[in-house]
Amino acid sequence: MTLNPDELRKDFPILEKGGLVYLDNAATTQKPRQVIDAVAEFYREFNANVHRGLHRLSQKASSLYEDAHETVARFIGASDWREVIFTKNTTEALNMIAQAIAEKFLRPGDEVVTTIMEHNSSILPWVRISRLRRLKLKIVSLANSEELNYEELSSAITSRTKVVALTHVSNVLGCVNDIKRVVKEASQAGALVVVDAAQSVPHMPVSVKELGVDALAFSGHKMLGPMGIGVLYLREDLANELPSPLPGGGMVSEVSLYDGKISYVEAEPPWKFEAGTPNVAGAVGLAAAIDYLLKIGMENVEEHSRYLADLTVKRLREALDNRIVVYGPMKRSRRLGIVAFNVDGINPHLVASYLDSRGIAVRSGYHCAQHLHSVLGAPEGSVRASFYVYNTRRDVDKLVNALADLVNEVDSVGNPS
Ligand SMILES: Cc1ncc(COP(=O)(O)O)c(C=O)c1O
Repeated sequence: MTLNPDELRKDFPILEKGGLVYLDNAATTQKPRQVIDAVAEFYREFNANVHRGLHRLSQKASSLYEDAHETVARFIGASDWREVIFTKNTTEALNMIAQAIAEKFLRPGDEVVTTIMEHNSSILPWVRISRLRRLKLKIVSLANSEELNYEELSSAITSRTKVVALTHVSNVLGCVNDIKRVVKEASQAGALVVVDAAQSVPHMPVSVKELGVDALAFSGHKMLGPMGIGVLYLREDLANELPSPLPGGGMVSEVSLYDGKISYVEAEPPWKFEAGTPNVAGAVGLAAAIDYLLKIGMENVEEHSRYLADLTVKRLREALDNRIVVYGPMKRSRRLGIVAFNVDGINPHLVASYLDSRGIAVRSGYHCAQHLHSVLGAPEGSVRASFYVYNTRRDVDKLVNALADLVNEVDSVGNPS
């Protein structure tokens, strides 16, 4: 089966209204009826808190919640559902793992290696922990301003490196990093690898086992699922070994009071990392989103993302030639679903406002990566078009035509910035 976006669009109520060219999928995707209905059904039919009640409704909610762990585990090729921890989003997952690793393993002088293309949610937890724990944070730069500099990465990893934290797919450059290669080099140095998969898991088949990563994070809302549900994958032995950075209700097997002091024993993973009332409806909605994506086939999703991004790069360069700068790799095999660009020195927010006036939704600014934009020579940020399963060739045409019109208007009346 190949992916037919026109057929899929019928499942998305927000797109059915017409008039919307939605190209802000890297920020969040739209939701199909199947996901909206699964969430509504949970609240209508099964709403109860999990793990705490003996009553039937609580048991039903608990089993739906556990099933959602299983669905996610199968989707990312985890060995066991206990390796799947539900969080609020990628940001929370990456902060939790950074704190847990720091508490257990990191000492002053240890080194953490990361990259200049990280989203703030991937790099700032390590910036903070490095300051608190007096670690050395090494930031690997780009090669040819478009991809990770693997040679620099190799030399940055030393016997002092305890963690390599990096993104799988850049949310600005769209490049796909070679995680297997990074894992190989990191494991030779005895370092853990933490992957921000917010832009990869939604767009391509990802197997955590095949990649060999220690921890990996992503968000449900970027893959047709609800907002407020994310995933931290944590390899089983590490999940057993690491302490939970978020103590509270539901994550303990025993709390004892002795001699006026309280101590506690953590429950088994994943519960020890999921303190408090979880987002059960979100987990159920994410499982429905995964079922939906699996019906399309992740290979087809990947192919479609690459096709539209590649088409956009080519059409933009043909239509706007030297009036446009496109960031990231030009080869189709190296880019997934994201095209960031700047038009002829026009402020990116003005470009996005103009596109909005034509019914085209894109993102403008730094995309939570101001540090990357400063090395790209784009101090005002960039415009980003990002694609998903319901986007069509027509969406690309509308984007390119609107940008060509903008340049013509600028030529006739002068730069509005
Ligand atoms: C690469 C990357 N990492 C992390 C995040 C943060 O995701 P969330 O806001 O869902 O926590 C994003 C979101 O834009 C992203 O693109």
